[in-house]
Amino acid sequence: MKICVLPGDGIGPEIMAEAVRVLEALELGFEMEEALIGGGAVDATGTPYPEATSRLAKAADAVLLGAVGGPKWDTLPREQRPERGLLAIRKELGLFANLRPAILYPELANASSLKPEVVAGLDILIVRELTGDIYFGQPRGVEERGGERYGFNTMHYTESEIRRIGRVAFEAARKRGKRLCSVDKMNVLETTQLWRDVMTELAPEYPDVELSHMLVDNAAMQLVRAPKQFDVMVTGNMFGDILSDEASMLTGSIGMLPSASLDENNKGLYEPSHGSAPDIAGKGVANPLATILSVAMMLRYTFGREEAALRVEGAVKKVLAQGYRTGDIFEPGTSRVGTRQMGDAVLAAL
Ligand code: NAI
Ligand code: MG
Repeated sequence: MKICVLPGDGIGPEIMAEAVRVLEALELGFEMEEALIGGGAVDATGTPYPEATSRLAKAADAVLLGAVGGPKWDTLPREQRPERGLLAIRKELGLFANLRPAILYPELANASSLKPEVVAGLDILIVRELTGDIYFGQPRGVEERGGERYGFNTMHYTESEIRRIGRVAFEAARKRGKRLCSVDKMNVLETTQLWRDVMTELAPEYPDVELSHMLVDNAAMQLVRAPKQFDVMVTGNMFGDILSDEASMLTGSIGMLPSASLDENNKGLYEPSHGSAPDIAGKGVANPLATILSVAMMLRYTFGREEAALRVEGAVKKVLAQGYRTGDIFEPGTSRVGTRQMGDAVLAAL
């Protein structure tokens, strides 16, 4: 049970310290080893994803990552930018399944951009395919054709790529509300007709899960009209990129959103959805809950420790109910705390 810990840049080290304290408090016997990624790695070694980090990440069962990037490195050539470290590790570990929950905690109902009655009790999971689709398709480029510039990309999926992400989504739905909505654009795009066909073929293997299909434009609309109709959604890389950002904002609080990216053997990389927040870095005010909730996802998906995952999620719910708030989720009438105090509160609740 090896965990590779990559704090990264900006608020990364601050929020990671709290997540590590939570992991230690659980006393599950994890072996943790820390390494460099992102801007800090560039400063120390000249590359955002050093060989030593790669070795550690490959040998670990799970990777816990803070965030990378910041203005200090913005002028570097593309190859050396901190974000390259993220792309490199995702690619190297073959992380094809991106899981992004969007949960609205009742105490934070006012943070949503939607009316409280539309989002109260919202709890959805978006499963996005992460290594295929139009983002990686060949041919691609911009060329001179017929006397003008011509831009082109290629959308593609093999049936085995669709099947493996489909299985992740069906399994996730099985552990939750047992409803899966597959999102495509089969009325226009052949690739997504294949997507719908393969999802439909998988369904008999999961008789306890109710499968439905939705066109992506309608899904975008339904997410803001009546988001609670969804339990688990599964879709390709491009549609998932857009829909998962849309869904996450329904909860209104970037400091609360965890994510998981998994390979075929449930090895995973777990990280908050937010970035390195250079504007508040070093001040001890960042919200560590997205990273702590990423730990819960790690316990659930990589280590199969559902009970421990529920304990961590329960502790987070408890501190919110107790009124502890970092600046990003502060409201009058609650108690404003810093990163370390929020970690203390979670430990106490655990
Ligand atoms: P960001 O997510 O870092 O920050 C956006 C806003 O949300 C800022 O006002 C920030 O203070 C706030 N915020 C973010 N996380 C917070 C937390 N835990 N607690 C309280 N407030 C929080 O996005 P931004 O500003 O666009 O990017 C900053 C840097 O992070 C850039 O270098 C960007 O490339 C990088 N980035 C890295 C990501 C990653 O490591 N996965 C993802 C997104 C951005
Ligand atoms: Mg995006």
